[in-house]
Amino acid sequence: MARRSSEEIAKIDRACQVVRQILRELDERVAEGVSTAELDAYAERRARQMEARPAFKGYMGYPASLCTSINEEIVHGIPGERRLRSGDMISLDFGVLLDGYYGDGAITCPVGEVSAEDDRLSRVTLECLRLAVEEVQPGRRISDIGHAVEQHATAAGFSVVREFVGHAIGTRLHEEPQVPNFGAPGRGPRIEEGMVLAIEPMITAGNSGVRVLEDGWTAVTRDGSRAAHWELVVAAMKNGPLVLGGPDGSAKL
Ligand code: MF3
Ligand code: CO
Repeated sequence: MARRSSEEIAKIDRACQVVRQILRELDERVAEGVSTAELDAYAERRARQMEARPAFKGYMGYPASLCTSINEEIVHGIPGERRLRSGDMISLDFGVLLDGYYGDGAITCPVGEVSAEDDRLSRVTLECLRLAVEEVQPGRRISDIGHAVEQHATAAGFSVVREFVGHAIGTRLHEEPQVPNFGAPGRGPRIEEGMVLAIEPMITAGNSGVRVLEDGWTAVTRDGSRAAHWELVVAAMKNGPLVLGGPDGSAKL
């Protein structure tokens, strides 16, 4: 389990700045009639303009730069010709490699008018993420993070996806330890100063069952209920959690 120096954390921070800048730009472009392939092309072009490499393209054979997961799709939706419709909810997950270090992030965006329940699902998932961030402190345990997420999600009547987890990040996109979004507190590895974790709650409005579509990637809810996904990268500093890529000052990170 890597503990990063302040120089390394500064590099991950710069990669996350690129990711979050592009996610904010994508959020402005999410609208009825836009295709997910257009969003993917935009993300890739902007990353290259900023001298960063899209991290997902080619990762385990993933065919695109961006993951676009609509409605009952939870994560790893592959961009294509599908066009967004009013009432859809789309999660955008993006990562880059910059100067040898990875950044990662995800947001959930409403398209046009969404139902009050979808809005609540996305908001509660973001609240789960913020509560989880508070646990990223030296001396706490990895499972304290998932416990915070699960408590808040289930209190709201939602379910936590268990098949996909957060992860440490640095010179590889996915490093040990894994960071589940569920579990009892006080278990698993201790969080140490300098650890950098990508925290990414995936929450569904229905049950937690997941299945992967024929494309080998797109993870959907078994019951067809909608899902939301938000992700930030956080360094465990002596004085507490440091959200990388800038403070989480807005709804769109
Ligand atoms: N964004 C995912 C994560 O946060 C990874 C995407 S896997 C890929 O861990 F294959 F789609 F790239
Ligand atoms: Co991630």
